Amino acid sequence: MKLLGIETSCDDTSVALVDETGATLFLETLGQETLHERYGGVVPELASRAHAQILPTLVQKAFQETGTNTSDLLAIAVTRGPGLSGSLLVGVSFAKGLAFSHSLPIVPVHHVIAHLRGAFDRVSDLRGKTLGLVVSGGHTHLYDVTRWPKLKRISRTVDDAAGETFDKGGKLMGLPFPGGPSIERMAKSNTRPTFPLTKGPIRTEDPMNFSFSGMKTAFSLKLRQALLSTDGSLSAEDQALWSDSLQTAILDHLFSRINKVIELESPETFLLGGGVAINQVLRERMGALCQKHGINLLMAPPKLCGDNALSIAQIGLDSMLQGLFTPFPYRDLSVQARWDPSE
Ligand code: KG4
Ligand code: ZN
Repeated sequence: MKLLGIETSCDDTSVALVDETGATLFLETLGQETLHERYGGVVPELASRAHAQILPTLVQKAFQETGTNTSDLLAIAVTRGPGLSGSLLVGVSFAKGLAFSHSLPIVPVHHVIAHLRGAFDRVSDLRGKTLGLVVSGGHTHLYDVTRWPKLKRISRTVDDAAGETFDKGGKLMGLPFPGGPSIERMAKSNTRPTFPLTKGPIRTEDPMNFSFSGMKTAFSLKLRQALLSTDGSLSAEDQALWSDSLQTAILDHLFSRINKVIELESPETFLLGGGVAINQVLRERMGALCQKHGINLLMAPPKLCGDNALSIAQIGLDSMLQGLFTPFPYRDLSVQARWDPSE
């Protein structure tokens, strides 16, 4: 028996097939960067149309390449939320339609839990007190995941997410979309000392929460000022310096909270997932910190950092083994664009 995973929460269309042991039979993720690039951000309407075009073909490809029929499926797992409603609807409706033909169970999966699931192979890898940080375009959230798959939120961003801050910075500097990978690439070539970005008033009562909007505004104002003395664009050398400075400010802010939570909670295991977790500087700093504290660090491999259907399929299998699924005719299964996993 096989389990099909479908992910369409934002701008990646992803399909995966796993066997009953959880081994990957198929995984393909198609991004829509070229579609959204000229708008400097994801356009929801375009994203859902593209999912509707790509998803059936990608599922057909998965079936053909692995010799799978719908009758071989144990269940279908699909991202239910949070994400863009239109994009989520495409995946959930497709899953319902396909499952309906064979009365298959559906496992509705939480997007944020899937980002953390990308960090480990088996639930038995989670030892002792376990914390998890999700850093993506929509989330910068820290959880206690000791009672996996139950999540207890420790802190969250009160405004923008880390990925959003990278994207906005990249857009302001005219770098290719999305900003995160462009900024990391440019920052690598910087040879000058970085400059600090005043964070402005941090709009949070809880010192464990994250806040990126002040840093984003400081970057934007400072850049506007700097551009006044040029022809309106930055040299490659200056783009490198500005990229490195923004990346350093984002990571320093993340680590101010990570250091504190390690001190307070003394975790045995730490999970890191989400699109920003692909950032090599973040991975190296995280590795050094966890080594210093003797923490078992589990980071999602680069291909599972961003939105992907393999993590969806793996949660699907975990859930089926626990008897947790939505049976035919899927009465209570609708998308949830806003959904707190610790509810
Ligand atoms: O998890 P994800 O694929 O989608 C969301 O759920 O948001 O994350 C996308 C985010 C984008 O903001 C992107 O700029 C960021 O991940 N990202 C990076 C890097 N690669 C992707 N941020 C920093 N450094 C990177 N190398
Ligand atoms: Zn995501």
